[in-house]
Amino acid sequence: MIILSAESSCDDTSVAVTEDGRKVLSNAVSSQTDIHVLYGGVVPELASRSHIRAIMPLADRAMAEAGVSKADVDAVAVTYAPGLIGAVLVGVNFAKAAAAALNVPLIPVHHIRGHIAANYIAHPSLCPPFVCLVASGGSSMIVDVRGYTDMRVLGSTRDDAAGECFDKAARVLGIGYPGGAQIDALARSGDPSRYKLPRSRVAGNPYDISFSGLKTAVVNLAHNAAQKGERLDLSDLAASLCAAVSDTLVSRAMDAALELGYGKLAFAGGVAANSMIRSRLSEECGKNGVELFLSPAELCGDNAAMIGCQGYYEYLAGVTADSSLNAYATMSPDSGYIHY
Ligand code: KG4
Repeated sequence: MIILSAESSCDDTSVAVTEDGRKVLSNAVSSQTDIHVLYGGVVPELASRSHIRAIMPLADRAMAEAGVSKADVDAVAVTYAPGLIGAVLVGVNFAKAAAAALNVPLIPVHHIRGHIAANYIAHPSLCPPFVCLVASGGSSMIVDVRGYTDMRVLGSTRDDAAGECFDKAARVLGIGYPGGAQIDALARSGDPSRYKLPRSRVAGNPYDISFSGLKTAVVNLAHNAAQKGERLDLSDLAASLCAAVSDTLVSRAMDAALELGYGKLAFAGGVAANSMIRSRLSEECGKNGVELFLSPAELCGDNAAMIGCQGYYEYLAGVTADSSLNAYATMSPDSGYIHY
């Protein structure tokens, strides 16, 4: 089954062509970094406008790179939630028009389910059940992936996501945008024990996460240093921040993996490219006899191939939408497709 898929939930526009879920025929991505770098963060209105300009040329590119014609496309899949609402709407409208024009089914895909599915592309042997740690710019959660379309969120962030924490810290430290990858690079030569940063626990659910205290701690450190005219060691601070995020995420992911006993743990989302978190997860999984599934960086960040992959499994489960499909800014990945 050939699926044409689109992703436009934040600041990357992407169109892909996949075959039977896991085979990627093309995965064209257009980044908006050049636009948002001027503002130190994503400007939603500019993101929407940029998606509008990018999506049709990307679709032509994805089809050409895949070597398929319009007649070969069996379905169109699209991210319909969650994300910046104007941005998600661009992909949804593109997909509705494409599905209508090609007279094929339209498959709505939850963005986080797509991130999880990126691991199916990277690992042909991976199948549910498994525990997935998801960490991106907008979400941080531990998910019990019971089936391809049957998920239960065990815990999630009560405030900021891990990516937001990296991006905001990078901005206040003048490291630049997007911050996560740059903090990761700086951290490689830093001392993770140099700055004492908080590791939070959330009352009520051991799997819930909070990063707002950590983000505020870095912001306060930066402001205090500026007031006193002191220089912070950016590599040491980046390493200390990565260590704090890592301790928070890795401990919860391991606890969940051991409690559920599937013996498999996957890591998904843009933050899954982070080298310290990857290596600490790998150490802990090794110690505890849990198989770890990591994806290459290009599949961790937003891309449409992961949407096509999850779209295939949604389709097999009977999930399709009609032209009344809407976009949603927030939605849990365990809620299933909501018909309004
Ligand atoms: O999944 P993604 O591409 O978009 C969302 O769905 O949010 O994630 C983007 C986030 C950004 O916050 C970015 O700074 C972060 O992922 N990120 C990283 C790394 N690469 C990207 N964070 C830490 N280390 C990295 N190497």
